[in-house]
Amino acid sequence: MNGSLDFGLKDKVAIVAGGGALGQDIGNGRAASILLAEAGAKVLVVDKDELLAETTVQMIEERSGEASWISGDLTESDQCKKVVDFAISKWGRLDILDNNIGIASKLSVVDESEENWDHIMDINLKPMFLMSKYAIPEMIKSGNGGSIVNISSISATRPKGLTTYSASKGAVLSLSQAMAVDHGADGIRVNCILPGPVYTPMVYSNGMSKDHRSQRQNASLIEIEGDGWDIGKAVVYLSSNWARYITGHLMVVDGGCSLSARPRG
Ligand SMILES: NC(=O)c1ccc[n+]([C@@H]2O[C@H](COP(=O)([O-])OP(=O)(O)OC[C@H]3O[C@@H](n4cnc5c(N)ncnc54)[C@H](O)[C@@H]3O)[C@@H](O)[C@H]2O)c1
Repeated sequence: MNGSLDFGLKDKVAIVAGGGALGQDIGNGRAASILLAEAGAKVLVVDKDELLAETTVQMIEERSGEASWISGDLTESDQCKKVVDFAISKWGRLDILDNNIGIASKLSVVDESEENWDHIMDINLKPMFLMSKYAIPEMIKSGNGGSIVNISSISATRPKGLTTYSASKGAVLSLSQAMAVDHGADGIRVNCILPGPVYTPMVYSNGMSKDHRSQRQNASLIEIEGDGWDIGKAVVYLSSNWARYITGHLMVVDGGCSLSARPRG
């Protein structure tokens, strides 16, 4: 033992779906991309916005990691196939998929429009289905099993007025466990992370008052604010050999928020 952590990710190939973030800021997907690369994986960063994906790759390269980027709208089947094909043509194998894409909606079923319901379901579920559909056969061909991590939310189990979002994220829990059952015999582990309120550009880019921010922070039993790195570290752990006996797991990463009755903003 030399004291360094070896997650067994050296020479593994990972795709992070939704790996961009605004500016130099840290969202869940960007953090996972950077940390997977730091742990030794070659990382394909995918985002519908090419500048955001490219910036993540630059941040990885500044830390001496290996990464590439590709843009695409992952609600579309041909784009998902193109992404998986790109990873295979570049690195010849695929081991890890982080299905990170998701957007919120704030309304009850009474106030929600049918159009927005369809839109949220499309973005929060379809990329997970389509990326997994094309990634799993390649993981099997690569011959060493694989890991898929789907990003849900504590809103799946502790709703707080984000009803369409909660429903979509609840489906992510079932999807993850069903996929774990379907593909366990292929050596593919499928796990799911339920983040609490973490401070990412997606939640603060339209502005967040000081009060709202401290309410989110104080919702945690340990009164700390979660950030993208907390989620990225959980992705690395679940993707690594350290988690080789873990599949179908729903991992809450929320500083205890979901055990607390405190409002989370
Ligand atoms: N931030 C939070 O408080 C929080 C809490 C619970 C769960 N989550 C979940 O974590 C995940 C990441 O959230 P985040 O806030 O860190 O965002 P993020 O910073 O990781 O950004 C997600 C990226 O996905 C990209 N994207 C969106 N739609 C896409 C599409 N159709 N095709 C390709 N790329 C697309 C966006 O351009 C964005 O760069 C989401 O699933 C979200 O629901 C976040």
